[in-house]
Amino acid sequence: MTNLSYGIIGKPLSHSLSPTLHNFWFKKYKISANYSLIEIELNQIEEIIKRIRKKELQGINITIPYKQAVIPFLDIIIDDAKETMSVNTISLNKEEKIVGNNTDVYGFEQGFINKFNNKNLEQKKVLVLGAGGATSSVIYALLKRGIKQIFISNRTIEKAENIKKKFPSITIIRWDDIEAKGEEADIIINTTSLGLKGNSDFKQDFKNVKPNLVYCDIIYNPDETLMIKKFNKKNIQTYNGLEMFVYQGQKSFSLWNAINPELDDELKQNIISELK
Ligand code: ATR
Repeated sequence: MTNLSYGIIGKPLSHSLSPTLHNFWFKKYKISANYSLIEIELNQIEEIIKRIRKKELQGINITIPYKQAVIPFLDIIIDDAKETMSVNTISLNKEEKIVGNNTDVYGFEQGFINKFNNKNLEQKKVLVLGAGGATSSVIYALLKRGIKQIFISNRTIEKAENIKKKFPSITIIRWDDIEAKGEEADIIINTTSLGLKGNSDFKQDFKNVKPNLVYCDIIYNPDETLMIKKFNKKNIQTYNGLEMFVYQGQKSFSLWNAINPELDDELKQNIISELK
């Protein structure tokens, strides 16, 4: 059987554990394939998409900062990718069309939102920080869950305004006001790259948050960002992005291979040990 090729495009990519995830499953399900890191510049996206058309690549994931930038190069976008205009999974369909899909919404639902079943999530005030590639997936999932009070803030306000065009019921607040808004919030979700391995971190202290705040970082590498460490010290409930990451990967794998791969303990251990 020929060796199939998959990969993830983005920049930087050194933090990505997607190869660990997918190569584990390829081995487990005896699929002769390899998944690699493909760090590219913006102007190389077209060339990568051509490789999918030529079947040199069977599928790719997309991460920071190209989840929107890939869209003009695709033939169609479907399902959650259409709802969010954010694409993280690409493949060639039977009609030989390049299809963009989104598995971040599913990842965020499985990895975070569904942990709060029966918890009156609808009534909560949620502050979403950032307006990057994954933010629209987070907001779409929160709206789907019936949450009405969603506040968004981004250093570059125009990008928050673009997200609001898609989801008009959300409220934009100024980046300078995030600490004040954070004091009222029941849930704070970080979708910026602040805190990502090798990046800078939040300057804000978020000292006076509610004691029953839930803090969620969609970053999984490092497993504890500075914000998570700070909130843990105060006994505030925190979540990192590891489960979101694993579930988005599970759905990408199932879109490519028509197998829903198992999230077994060995895989979790492999990932945790790579984070150390
Ligand atoms: P893109 O912005 O190309 O979609 P991304 O990496 O998905 O890429 O998004 C990065 C997010 O982290 C953005 O919300 C970005 O804010 P800007 O839109 O203002 O760039 C945010 N971010 C990155 N560095 C930041 C910093 N030093 N301070 C505040 N926000 C930052």
